[in-house]
Amino acid sequence: MPYQTIIPLDRALDQPLYQQVATGLAAEIRRGIIAVGTRLPGSRVLAERLGLNRQTIIAAYDELVAQGWLESRPRQGLFVAPRLPQQVPAAPVALPAYPVHPAFAFEPVPTVATQVLPALPVLVFNDGFPDVRLAPLDVLTRAYRAIARRPSSRQYLRYGSPQGSAHLREALAADLRDTRGLAITAENILITRGSQQSIFLTAHVLLRPGDAVIVGETNYFAATATFQHHGGRLLAVPVDAHGLDVDAVERLCQQQPVRLLYVTPHHHHPTTVTLRADRRLKLLRLAAEYGFAILEDDYDFDFHYTGSPILPLASADTAGSVIYVGSLGKTLMPALRVGYLVAPSALVQAVTNVRRLIDRQGDQVLEEALAELYQSGEMSRHLRRAQRVYEGRRDRLCTLLREQLPTALHFEQPSGGMAVWARFASEINLNALSQKCLRNGLYLNDGSLYEWQKPNQNATRLGFASLNDTELHEAVAILAHSLQSLW
Ligand SMILES: Cc1ncc(COP(=O)(O)O)c(C=O)c1O
Repeated sequence: MPYQTIIPLDRALDQPLYQQVATGLAAEIRRGIIAVGTRLPGSRVLAERLGLNRQTIIAAYDELVAQGWLESRPRQGLFVAPRLPQQVPAAPVALPAYPVHPAFAFEPVPTVATQVLPALPVLVFNDGFPDVRLAPLDVLTRAYRAIARRPSSRQYLRYGSPQGSAHLREALAADLRDTRGLAITAENILITRGSQQSIFLTAHVLLRPGDAVIVGETNYFAATATFQHHGGRLLAVPVDAHGLDVDAVERLCQQQPVRLLYVTPHHHHPTTVTLRADRRLKLLRLAAEYGFAILEDDYDFDFHYTGSPILPLASADTAGSVIYVGSLGKTLMPALRVGYLVAPSALVQAVTNVRRLIDRQGDQVLEEALAELYQSGEMSRHLRRAQRVYEGRRDRLCTLLREQLPTALHFEQPSGGMAVWARFASEINLNALSQKCLRNGLYLNDGSLYEWQKPNQNATRLGFASLNDTELHEAVAILAHSLQSLW
């Protein structure tokens, strides 16, 4: 084979010589000039013929073996491989643009209202999210790494139970018994990817198109959207300073069958009010009497600042009416997609069966690591610390708002949670204020997230938990400054 004539070499090119040799040989193999099964000359021989260094030929051969053009047979040498690799087009081909619309019809799915936070380096009054700077990431990642490496933990790298880690469910059952008075075992728990998945799964199992779902006239927007997605017929009841109007709930039950009631009793979303004790008991009584399910979203139970927290409805539920959902996304950090659903075990099984269909299982190693955080006491240490910090931030924000904006906005200091529900004076255009704040370096929602059945509230949530003292000072200063020309 006249290799010296069939392999073009050009020392003036930027391409290294070994690559030119490899490209030249591959081109001749592709053309069939060097046939499949041909034995290539030894590196010393080819180097001499091409007038190149032997290392250059060795590098070219290595490249061709790596790409699959050549194969090495022990003690025989290098041969053109019997099955050649996929051929890469010689010249780049312009790809056709990917279509925007599919060729088939489908029902559009509305966009869920979502707090899209700006990527700009601005301060943010969010919906009430934890400060990710406080998350015990070191402890969590150490536990994760240790579990992933332990030979005895290989099972967690395989498929496991769609109900979630037994260790985490046991740790959670003990924690929920101690902190929330829930008389449950691991069989009453499904580990999910967060409260949102728990809400979706509940809606999926319980709702059929046209089923009546009671919610507050102000309500957590993603829950509203989830019930609508499942064909729920939403019935809104008033929310006052003591939470849902349960007399209105009773009147609705007298008029028609009700399937589900959604409630955030600890701190109503978005107004942060707590459902009064007598209303809680009445809700449980109505649920048992009229046979509807209560979906209790206790998204921020962990953060309460006045004495002992009010126990969930689920803790007093002896009839089996309540489905209780919680999230470690609020306890630790939103990006950690682990939450839980607590219910009578027969319902947990049904919900687990649906979860299996849309999400095979959770991240088992992460769930095991979280179980260790509960068992070692790290979780309660973190909570105690975060609670202290957030309480200080709540106090700071409320003081700053009272001092700097005494008449522009009204609020009740929340007894817990991570946000203040701020109602602005009616002369203030909240949308214009929100835009002006953003220009001045502060994001706050213009209130549209919270307006579903109650437009023109002129109110928004000011999440304080993720802003430290300096940031809170700065944020309120920007808010005050932005308000100046607006009313
Ligand atoms: C009331 C309420 N429920 C549920 C969720 C969703 O939580 P997760 O991140 O666990 O899905 C949120 C998140 O902000 C919330 O505010």
